[in-house]
Amino acid sequence: MSEKKVIFSGIQPSGALTLGNYLGAIKNWEQLQDENENFFCIVDLHAITVPQEPKNLRKNTLEVLALYLASGIDPEKSTIFIQSHVSAHTELTWVLNTMSYMGQLSRMTQFKEKSQKSEANLNAGLLTYPVLMASDILLYQTDAVPVGEDQKQHLELARDLAERFNNRYSETFKIPEPMISKVGARIMSLQEPTKKMSKSDEDKNAFILLLDEPDDIRRKLKRAVTDSIGVVKHSDEQPGIKNLLTIYSKISGENIEEIEKRYEGKGYGKFKEDVAEVIIEGLRPVREKANYLLKNKDHLEEIYMNGANKAEAVARKTLRKVYKKVGFIPRKF
Ligand code: TYM
Repeated sequence: MSEKKVIFSGIQPSGALTLGNYLGAIKNWEQLQDENENFFCIVDLHAITVPQEPKNLRKNTLEVLALYLASGIDPEKSTIFIQSHVSAHTELTWVLNTMSYMGQLSRMTQFKEKSQKSEANLNAGLLTYPVLMASDILLYQTDAVPVGEDQKQHLELARDLAERFNNRYSETFKIPEPMISKVGARIMSLQEPTKKMSKSDEDKNAFILLLDEPDDIRRKLKRAVTDSIGVVKHSDEQPGIKNLLTIYSKISGENIEEIEKRYEGKGYGKFKEDVAEVIIEGLRPVREKANYLLKNKDHLEEIYMNGANKAEAVARKTLRKVYKKVGFIPRKF
């Protein structure tokens, strides 16, 4: 393999993607492509840790693929694939499960949150979810994982598992580094700006979807929660305005101070309208291209088939090493 650094990341097709997914993850991936060896996965195995309607899961999987492509992820530069197509992910998960401590898994923030929400369906997959994520990353000898802030703890677990395996057997896995951008790593809910923007939020006004129409975006921004201070400032005391400034800056590329200056002495009304327009214009090409790509299923199929073949070759190599070190007898063909 080349000297390039290996980048791995993924998104769950558990619903339509939000502006948080885009600004916290995909937008950063695009910029990494030229310099690195990239793997971008659609993690359908992770998605079924909460119940999914099969028809919707299929639709959402293709939609995520189309959104990757529409956001500039280029299949010539990056391997784009569907997680369930490369069975090494589940195979490595089994091995790593046997090396994961229940205590550590049950202390994961996301597990605690999800288990509270779904007490009636507290399945084992929710607990071992981060082990599957570790397998995703470790199979590709990943150097860096570009994600939003909320995935940091899971990455620490991946690092722990890699080190544990390397210490118990011998050097096998590269220890991956998190790559979390300074701006946009945690986009907040428009309705409760102290909570992260999430596609599973019951309040539909809390999030913006990448495929939202301009009028939806205008309406959601108009209703976005602000405060009574009345100054457009990036301050912890004004979480709503701070979030909108972050979104504005991350999409436009302008720095936050410049934006603050422009709105000095102006009210929130105009600022919110302008944020809506920045989002609309920023997402327009992504939405239009994704909708266009979704009409050509054959093209999408070709991309995920090629991606699976490329990913499989790399993943198998690592899995073979792991099986050998664990003491499994290799199957000769
Ligand atoms: P998921 O599908 O919840 O989110 C995908 C990516 O979007 C980021 N993100 C956000 N960033 C900023 N602000 C937000 N409000 C926001 N919401 C989501 C997430 O941090 C993530 O980068 N477990 C992962 C998927 C996964 C994965 C992997 C990621 C599976 N295997 C291997 C990296 C490497 C997840 O559920 O992401």
